[in-house]
Amino acid sequence: MERSYEFREIGESNDLKLQAARILATAYGDGASPWPNVRSAMGEVEACVDLPNVCVGLCEGERLLGWVGLRPMYEKTWELHPLAVALEEQRKGFGTLLVREIEREAAARNLAGIALGADDDRFRTSLSRTDIDESNIFDELKNIRNLEGHPYEFYRKCGYMIVGMIPNANGKRKPDIWLWKALA
Ligand SMILES: CC(C)(COP(=O)(O)OP(=O)(O)OC[C@H]1O[C@@H](n2cnc3c(N)ncnc32)[C@H](O)[C@@H]1OP(=O)(O)O)[C@@H](O)C(=O)NCCC(=O)NCCS
Repeated sequence: MERSYEFREIGESNDLKLQAARILATAYGDGASPWPNVRSAMGEVEACVDLPNVCVGLCEGERLLGWVGLRPMYEKTWELHPLAVALEEQRKGFGTLLVREIEREAAARNLAGIALGADDDRFRTSLSRTDIDESNIFDELKNIRNLEGHPYEFYRKCGYMIVGMIPNANGKRKPDIWLWKALA
């Protein structure tokens, strides 16, 4: 039987918020989530549903499959944060659907673009294998390689381009990779 989905605002019920927190705490895999437990993830969810932030989930019936947030950053460019698909539902196209939906929400707000940071705090890209300074930063960005399933590649497939990085953002050789997309 074909599965059917709908987008819902995470803030509309406590159950959706709890499911969103559970996904945030587990979607990154064992011990890898920036929110190590449901309680800390719940704090993030509460911040994400606060207006003017946008917070949208993809549901199959009552079950939340994944969700995405958007928040003010610049006047015409907001930040996508966070994005997480339930671990057992990854690589089935749901992340792409969520990104498309948040882009629709952004366009409805007359925004010009979306930016986001994708941390590499587990040495999953070539950017974490070398010290970055003024002499090599642009070459390293141009020649980035994905060593272990870092999501920058997912975002590129969604049309985002790498626009920079913050070297050592999360500690030595743990950069944050910045991506951006112009909205049509
Ligand atoms: C990153 C994430 C949101 C992607 O969602 P998803 O539903 O798994 O992605 P999709 O199925 O829509 O993938 C679309 C394409 O991107 C690719 N892709 C997805 N995740 C990828 C990854 N981590 N590394 C490389 N490619 C990836 C898919 O293979 C697919 O490629 P194809 O079109 O050539 O087949 C999801 O894996 C996730 O929640 N990860 C944990 C949390 C996280 O890392 N969030 C992002 C923080 S910046």
